[in-house]
Amino acid sequence: MAELPRGREHRTADHPIEPIFLDRWSPRAMSGAPVDPSDLLRLFEAARWAPSTYNEQEWLFLYARRETPQWPAFFGLLMEANQVWCVRAGVLIVVLSHKVFGRNGMPNPVHTFDAGAAFENLALQGASMGLVVHGMAGFDRGKARATLRVPDDYEVEAMIAVGHPGDPANLPEAIREREAPSGRKPVAEIAREGPFAAG
Ligand SMILES: Cc1cc2nc3c(=O)[nH]c(=O)nc-3n(C[C@H](O)[C@H](O)[C@H](O)COP(=O)(O)O)c2cc1C
Repeated sequence: MAELPRGREHRTADHPIEPIFLDRWSPRAMSGAPVDPSDLLRLFEAARWAPSTYNEQEWLFLYARRETPQWPAFFGLLMEANQVWCVRAGVLIVVLSHKVFGRNGMPNPVHTFDAGAAFENLALQGASMGLVVHGMAGFDRGKARATLRVPDDYEVEAMIAVGHPGDPANLPEAIREREAPSGRKPVAEIAREGPFAAG
């Protein structure tokens, strides 16, 4: 079985951080092997411990394993550009978030933010287990809502492909060329002390 290339061998942090942040990246090469249900539970377990407003835990993960009858419906939500490599994924996940607070039905202004935190927990856990975890915006949200019968008070946020690492040679050339851990903007560009602009 192919090993997941470790991000730390391609990336350098400008300030000391835990290596898992460098090791997590978004490969597309997968083997097509099924993901063990107990491993999948470990990913959701990690997501479970994400922080959220008032501990609302407003994320909800709908998923399909490739070896089940649910698979074609989930796969059919993806744009073709994602289908070409997700064809070897083991699990496809649709991330939902509850838009209103469970206790009073009032709008929750950070439901998307919280769902993103849960995704990152899941992604870091997957990376630590040597699994591919790849977030996706490229899918049909309306179709996901209709196909998966998502109620109006839930947002369809994103999809996630999960799988075992595979041979990049099986990827179409244009995608294969990008199959490497990417770099980042410097901290000075993403954090500033004080207001947005000097006033
Ligand atoms: C919410 C979200 C949506 C994304 N959508 C797609 C997508 O539709 N297709 C794709 O190939 N990659 C997608 N990506 C992967 C990003 O391109 C990738 O995370 C980014 O380039 C940074 O690279 P890294 O994750 O390898 O560090 C998405 C990532 C996130 C978090």
